[in-house]
Amino acid sequence: MILELQSPLDMHLHVRDAQMLRLVAPLSADSFAGAVIMPNLVPPVTSVDSVEAYRSRIMQAVGDNEHFKPYMTAFFKNYTESELLALKDHVFGLKLYPAGATTNSEGGVKGMDEAESTIRLMEEMGIPLLVHGESHGFVMDREEEFLSVYRHLAQKYPKLTISMEHITTASAVGLLDEFENLVATVTLQHLFITLDDVAGGMLKPHLFCKPIAKRPEDREALLEAALKAHPKLMFGSDSAPHPIHAKESCGCAAGVFTAPLALPKLAELFAKHDCIANLQAFVSDNACKIYGLTPPKTSVKLEDKPMSIPSSYEGFGQKVIPMDAGETISWSII
Ligand code: NCD
Ligand code: ZN
Repeated sequence: MILELQSPLDMHLHVRDAQMLRLVAPLSADSFAGAVIMPNLVPPVTSVDSVEAYRSRIMQAVGDNEHFKPYMTAFFKNYTESELLALKDHVFGLKLYPAGATTNSEGGVKGMDEAESTIRLMEEMGIPLLVHGESHGFVMDREEEFLSVYRHLAQKYPKLTISMEHITTASAVGLLDEFENLVATVTLQHLFITLDDVAGGMLKPHLFCKPIAKRPEDREALLEAALKAHPKLMFGSDSAPHPIHAKESCGCAAGVFTAPLALPKLAELFAKHDCIANLQAFVSDNACKIYGLTPPKTSVKLEDKPMSIPSSYEGFGQKVIPMDAGETISWSII
């Protein structure tokens, strides 16, 4: 069986910088027509100049490929009205991180109150707000505890599009149907794994990410929403490469690298559940409708032919281990 996807989009992607960028960005461009690029570099991307310089480095890394469009984001901080007006035409949205919630988020917001003047301006200017929605509570409860913040923002700023990034709980899926202006992304790994896969047996550093994978019933709810292509749910891989030494270490960095295997794994999953016809909406059409995007016109053909996932991706002095390294899956890109 052959499946042809039109202009697949990755609505949450980390491509890093420098040599790592050169290794991983082309792997996303091989599959996707565009991707929402996360701004958590060191230092974070917060100005028109740094957004545009980063966009150029990405374009250079993908070989100035006109078939790949980076949708740039800036790191949320308190911007003045004139700073935001200047940024508006250069970014897809702002990404808000609670301080310290994940990789390179130390400069994130310390309390939501302090963020609201900027959020109000974003609503007025029509700039989407993308949120890493975790509290500082017990690790399994962090997303659930953050849902009250989403409720508050969705109610108070009804014209603001708020994306709950990489949702991992059944409760977050439920929230999508409560507020018109709430949308969400879900990653590849959270459709497949639970905490048991990460820490139930031998510890699996390459499956460790934030938010941490949750319970079987959470994974089920995410999967059900994805398989039916819930119109407010979009694929965002959250592919987050770290060098092997940062993962296989006594302090393991959070992030799962999935960019090159995302589409074959999704095709395998949707085919297994007899939902292959919904994959186009999940990996592109939903996002285009929600945000009014017109990505480069590309098409990617997938076939139910086995593919071995490499044990590592190496180049430019970098080595990254992907999810499911060394395993064989039943679909591949042709
Ligand atoms: C991401 C990273 O490494 O930048 N890590 C992760 O575990 N998902 C950051 C993020 O999106 O939380
Ligand atoms: Zn991320």
